[in-house]
Amino acid sequence: MDLRTFRELLGPEGQRALAEAERLLAAGTEPVTVITALRRTWSPELTSAALTQAALRDRARAKFGADAAVMYFTADGLEQATRPEVAGHRARRIAALSPDPPALLDVCCGIGGDLIALARAGHPVDAVDSDPLTVEIARANAAALGLPAPVEVRVADAAEVDPSGYGLLFADPGRRGAGGRTFDPMAYSPAWPVVLDLAHRAKAACIKAAPGIPYEFIPEHAEAEWVSYRGEVKEAAIWIGTGARGRRATLLPSGATLTATGARADVGPVGRYLYEPDGAAIRAHLIGEVAELVDGHLIDPRIAYLTGDRAVRTEWAAGYEVTDVLPFSVKRLRAVLRERGIGTVTMKKRGSAVDVERLRKELRLSGDGSAVVVLTRIGDRPYVLLCRPFDQDR
Ligand SMILES: C[S@@+](CC[C@H](N)C(=O)[O-])C[C@H]1O[C@@H](n2cnc3c(N)ncnc32)[C@H](O)[C@@H]1O
Repeated sequence: MDLRTFRELLGPEGQRALAEAERLLAAGTEPVTVITALRRTWSPELTSAALTQAALRDRARAKFGADAAVMYFTADGLEQATRPEVAGHRARRIAALSPDPPALLDVCCGIGGDLIALARAGHPVDAVDSDPLTVEIARANAAALGLPAPVEVRVADAAEVDPSGYGLLFADPGRRGAGGRTFDPMAYSPAWPVVLDLAHRAKAACIKAAPGIPYEFIPEHAEAEWVSYRGEVKEAAIWIGTGARGRRATLLPSGATLTATGARADVGPVGRYLYEPDGAAIRAHLIGEVAELVDGHLIDPRIAYLTGDRAVRTEWAAGYEVTDVLPFSVKRLRAVLRERGIGTVTMKKRGSAVDVERLRKELRLSGDGSAVVVLTRIGDRPYVLLCRPFDQDR
């Protein structure tokens, strides 16, 4: 979709075409039939834009809920947008920094995932993006949602803006190159040094990075916060100049948060229970802190599985009861699962090179029972821990 067609989509004819595309798709009409129907009235460009937008709104409901019905997207913009729960958490942290919501600068605003949350928290936001269509979409989204604080969006290269007049700079650099998603901060757009330079020229800053950001890219005086949403690590937020330092893990939607205390986990034998810490705690190197919470220890110093003899329910770790500890052997595992009538297994692995799908075939599972099969290593030897989740009927 080009800029001209998007503007047409926002006009009265475009809105009629979009409403018709949405109505037909909701009724289960095949996309090719929708095209034929729309083409009777509208141009090929507007037809294609209306159908694409209707399909993207439908897909966006999983991320944006009811707001998706009035928002606009590109496929990339939707995929890269911060989900509202995560953006809302960030916006609340920013709002808590000062009594009056200061004006903010969002330098890679995309279709507006973060900017919407920031404005909803009461901050006036100036935003830029280098892509003109994305800017137009962010403006349309701000207008469609009727945000409570003023929002200005313009086309600019983040490297060219002056962040000094704002209370805080927010940057969510593009992590998508010609070859797809990139995990190298030097390949972000703008590249990490450019973003850090902007951040250091601002009064305070928050930079969103991929969860796997190497620790050496995190400035010493910053706080790095790994955020997971329903058990999936979504981002590392790097807070600079806000007074926060060190490492933090945050779980959403609950908002539970854990900071580094320096706790260290011992290493010891497998106990009655196994704990798999949330990915945010693992990324934030807070295994010692989670070990304290579950009164447990590591099975192996290099693998993030904890174990203990007390059943502790915590949102920081999934807990399982260990029924068997077996040196890894397909034959032996198959025999044990057969004997117990276990036909359904959830496989988990850490520190194991086993091909899970191949193993699943080799096990030739049958039976009504279920189990969690944990593939790991203790010292240099591969092991299987057979487990059942807490609270599962025996
Ligand atoms: C990860 S997305 C931002 C998503 C946004 N925070 C949201 O929640 O919707 C990154 C955006 O940065 C923009 N971008 C990439 N390089 C840029 C640059 N040098 N200056 C400004 N924007 C840039 C891309 O066009 C893209 O829209």
